[in-house]
Amino acid sequence: MIRFDIITIFPEIFESYFKESLLKKAIDKGLIEINIHNLRDFTSDKHHVVDDKPFGGGIGMVMKIEPIFKAVKKIKKIYRQKNKKGKSLVVLFTPRAKKFSQKMAYNFSKIGQLILICGRYEGIDERVAKYIADKEVSIGDYVLMGGELPAMIVIETISRLIPGIIGKPQFLKERITSRKGFIEYPQYTRPEVFSPKKGVSWKAPKVLLGGNHKKVEEWRNKKGKIIEN
Ligand code: ADE
Repeated sequence: MIRFDIITIFPEIFESYFKESLLKKAIDKGLIEINIHNLRDFTSDKHHVVDDKPFGGGIGMVMKIEPIFKAVKKIKKIYRQKNKKGKSLVVLFTPRAKKFSQKMAYNFSKIGQLILICGRYEGIDERVAKYIADKEVSIGDYVLMGGELPAMIVIETISRLIPGIIGKPQFLKERITSRKGFIEYPQYTRPEVFSPKKGVSWKAPKVLLGGNHKKVEEWRNKKGKIIEN
């Protein structure tokens, strides 16, 4: 059981996604737990301010450290009360960090609690990265408006690795190769020949139709890509 705790100023962004997808089933089965925390609940001023002007000047606003510190502290405490030996990892999303990978997802899937800090605005006070986060993660070399989409991507990638979440566990096993990864290969289904217009036919590869398992496997190994764990 992995517990995900998301810290965000846009909690609604997550609601429909986690309600509609396979993740809902995983939550219902008790395989994962997802808690969404509104960062504004951890402010102490009347207006629930979470950002301020950058020191040194410049455009945009910077997210403040205090509410994030309070949120992480409380969320860790809640978890520790229930799971004395459980390990927590605090992840901060930033495009500056090392890129998220299947291997990282696999390592994260062994941790009891993942606290995901979603930044917004032009940045987050650097002391959050330095003193609060255990790991900074980027999902790619492009700049998004915040860490909400990265959080969903990370949660979904990790959750797929938990037996019982996608299909039958043996489906997952079948795709695990000797190199400790998943093989992702092209798939086809009926019809064998699809005709988008007269005289044109888009065919499924013959090798997949013949029933020769060894040949099918060879073809899949050739065409597939191994995503290493
Ligand atoms: N925040 C903004 N862009 C991001 C990215 N590419 N990865 C992670 N967090 C981000």
